[in-house]
Amino acid sequence: MSDKDKVFIFDTTMRDGEQSPGASMSLEEKIQISRVFDELGIDIIEAGFPIASPGDFESVKAISKILKNSIPAGLSRASKKDIDACHEALKSAPRFRIHTFISTSALHMKHKLNKTPEQVLDAIKESVTYARNLTDDVEWSCEDGTRTDMDFMCKIVELAINSGAKTINIPDTVGYTTPSEFTKIIKTLKNKVPNIDKAILSVHCHNDLGLAVANSLAGVSAGARQVECTINGIGERAGNAALEEIVMAIRTRNDLMPFTTGIKTELLSKASKVVSNATFPVQFNKAIVGKNAFAHEAGIHQDGMLKNRETYEIMTPESVGVKKTSLVMGKHSGRHAFKEKLSDLGYVDVTDDVIQTAFGKFKILADKKKHVYDDDIAALVDDSMVLEKNVINLKSLKVFAGTGEPQKAEMTLDVYGEVKKTSETGDGPVDAIFKCIKVLYPHDVKLLLYQVHAVTEGTDAQATVSVRIEENGKTTVGQAADTDTLVASANAYLSALNKMIIKRDKTAPEIEQDKEKVRGI
Ligand code: KIV
Ligand code: ZN
Repeated sequence: MSDKDKVFIFDTTMRDGEQSPGASMSLEEKIQISRVFDELGIDIIEAGFPIASPGDFESVKAISKILKNSIPAGLSRASKKDIDACHEALKSAPRFRIHTFISTSALHMKHKLNKTPEQVLDAIKESVTYARNLTDDVEWSCEDGTRTDMDFMCKIVELAINSGAKTINIPDTVGYTTPSEFTKIIKTLKNKVPNIDKAILSVHCHNDLGLAVANSLAGVSAGARQVECTINGIGERAGNAALEEIVMAIRTRNDLMPFTTGIKTELLSKASKVVSNATFPVQFNKAIVGKNAFAHEAGIHQDGMLKNRETYEIMTPESVGVKKTSLVMGKHSGRHAFKEKLSDLGYVDVTDDVIQTAFGKFKILADKKKHVYDDDIAALVDDSMVLEKNVINLKSLKVFAGTGEPQKAEMTLDVYGEVKKTSETGDGPVDAIFKCIKVLYPHDVKLLLYQVHAVTEGTDAQATVSVRIEENGKTTVGQAADTDTLVASANAYLSALNKMIIKRDKTAPEIEQDKEKVRGI
């Protein structure tokens, strides 16, 4: 057992992270993510905001039932109705946390809450006491904490602890603070609040000025012992502090920050992947989990690395679960070897159907492509997992592109089990493809993003296409990989559309109506 102070990791990917545009996740995705987070060693998982929607309530309830190690938490405003919903959703877990918050800056109290400071004091006392009667584990947050008057903050923190809060969270809600200012805030609380030793201080930083991780680490060095963060740094606006960056900074610069976390860092890559699959791709140069985070391109760097890795490497790729890209298998590799490979790559819960589909695709790919890398295989499995749930699937695609003639696509889709065919022209091949899908499954969504990138190197590389669409304020992201960029484009759009159909939370009769509509074309 280490004698270093432990910093508790509180993950809010599925609550604050989900509040970022394009990051809403389905129940199935949240369950998959929770399993990985539980294994990763996250101490507390904020699974959602139960009062916000029936979907959020059901997710928190389902996640509370499956966690083996992590403590589930739910968010609530300072209201009994919110707290009751939280309690109801969490109560099946052996231990759970109710996280209640209220705004405390003069600006928020006046304009957002329309409350006086005295009314806010009353609300804190009432809400924390109420929550504490439902569980021992209550966390209280002062929203817009870093813009709250310091004397008022000391008073309300003391009150929240006296009312039963065991964790006091100081959010930098609008990403406004700086490391030196945040250090001062945390130190003032430590020095001036008489009962501060009865609670754990926590920090929750947003990234509007790109300082979320720096501010969180400053908070820890000043005495905070819980950090609230998200995988890949997803979250409102510019995001939250990235979990993987906080954890690896503490691990790598333990000489300056002598703390421990319970995170199994070798699983960080896997956690990043499971979150990006459900939300959006990670930028290539993202610290720790970006595709280029451990790539050394410049000759002079490569030379140094060959002589001694430490010349240009402050942490090893293996320490965050990145395996060296290896030439894995060829067209003669069998199903058994393929299955072993998947398990090596961290795909443990994969169904036989998914393995079968992915293996079929692998054989086709191995015929087309000289080198099949780990990343290629991962892309195939991710694709096949999505395919398993789809109600609309691509059967065939032919595209006529080039100069002169208008670009044309011929497409066959399986829509709710019915095979449908069309041919459309468009302003470019991708436009023609998307038009075909719209004709075969009439729908009205806005295309927010279309992005293409290569999975591995070379002109025979697989392309991964990401598509984000919006319908009535809800957004979904679809991703697909193929050596043919146009096939990947069609599948990515279909993946986003399939997720949208699932997200509509349809009842059985509505699904029947939807099918009828399709049959009527
Ligand atoms: O940023 C924030 O203030 C929050 C609170 C609800 C903790 O997310
Ligand atoms: Zn937040």
